[in-house]
Amino acid sequence: MRTNRRSVLSALALAPLSSSLIVGCKKKQKDTIVVGAYLSMTGSEAEFGISTRNGVQLAVDELNTRGGVLGKRFRLVVEDDRGDSTEAASAVTRLIDREGAEVIIGEVASSLSLSGGRVAQRRRIPMVSPSSTNEDVTRVGDYIFRVCFIDPFQGSVMARFAKELQINGQAVQKVAIFRDEASAYSTGLARAFRETFARLGGELVDEQSYHKGDTHFSAQLSGMLAKQPQAIFVPGYYTEVTLIAREARALGYTGPFLGGDGWDSPALFRNDENKLVGSYFSEGFAPDHPTSPVGEAFVRNYRQRFGHDANGLAALGYDAMLVAADAIRRAGQTDGPAVRAALAATQRFEGATGRISIDAQRNAIKSAVILEVREDAFRFHRAIEAT
Ligand code: PHE
Repeated sequence: MRTNRRSVLSALALAPLSSSLIVGCKKKQKDTIVVGAYLSMTGSEAEFGISTRNGVQLAVDELNTRGGVLGKRFRLVVEDDRGDSTEAASAVTRLIDREGAEVIIGEVASSLSLSGGRVAQRRRIPMVSPSSTNEDVTRVGDYIFRVCFIDPFQGSVMARFAKELQINGQAVQKVAIFRDEASAYSTGLARAFRETFARLGGELVDEQSYHKGDTHFSAQLSGMLAKQPQAIFVPGYYTEVTLIAREARALGYTGPFLGGDGWDSPALFRNDENKLVGSYFSEGFAPDHPTSPVGEAFVRNYRQRFGHDANGLAALGYDAMLVAADAIRRAGQTDGPAVRAALAATQRFEGATGRISIDAQRNAIKSAVILEVREDAFRFHRAIEAT
């Protein structure tokens, strides 16, 4: 019985090994480098996936036009994870085991990068998240990198901004937080905001939570508005943020909303109601205020290629791909451990979103921008240097 079970176990253990050996052989003959991106191409965060895919695609096309790297062209394979963390893990598995991906780009949402990242880490395939900002994402392991800032920074930027905000000549002192309880991003960003705002002497009058997919928020909002916050921090994603704003306005709230990069979608102003005009959020890139020639060229080429303006997601997707390609070039090969080491050694890489250096925690130290929501666009408001 014992022996039997052991032989079944060893057969199971050998199965993935032998299939990865086959993939390994295939790899050696390929004249392309496979880049696997896992993104939410459908569902309530589809805008995240689409913008990021466009940015990555633009980078791949530019790289290939210049001849690729190591004499090979890049081939981009995109898997839709539908914004679901179980799907994210399967998508990364498929990209590596079936498509032979040698580097993984993704995800946007931190909860999904946490689950997809565990798969990449286990298989020793380097992953570069363009835009997942939760601190824990790169803690998954030494194969996981990102090219964006992290939420302790983003949260403190917005808390400072809130504390300095004047509404009708009055300084903001009372703020409320409305966060997505099931999202690593939202809870982490809420924490960072809360801590800094308190340290600066501000008063948190209420904190409520919702869940992704909720469509009614009045119960939480009416309790919150009774405490008379002068501003509401909503560290969520655009779909819920838009609905929350509509309900809060219906309940009579007239103050600004504040948020983080999860707001970055044209859906925020591409609605008839404009309930968020005059609100502010933090991001890593302002398309109307690029800070380098690479950023300027990116904005121009993106508009020409896709017929609409780029956003922060697209710019970070573009940079994630360029950073991965640069690491492969410096590694002189596509083997996971070599590319991982080259990624870790990334210093002063000139991307569209600024200069990227990877630190010992595999994070990028980046500055932030605050964007204002206008009638039909986001407008650059202010830049905040990394601390
Ligand atoms: N930073 C968000 C997260 O970690 C994702 C995001 C980035 C969304 C940039 C929009 C723009 O979940």
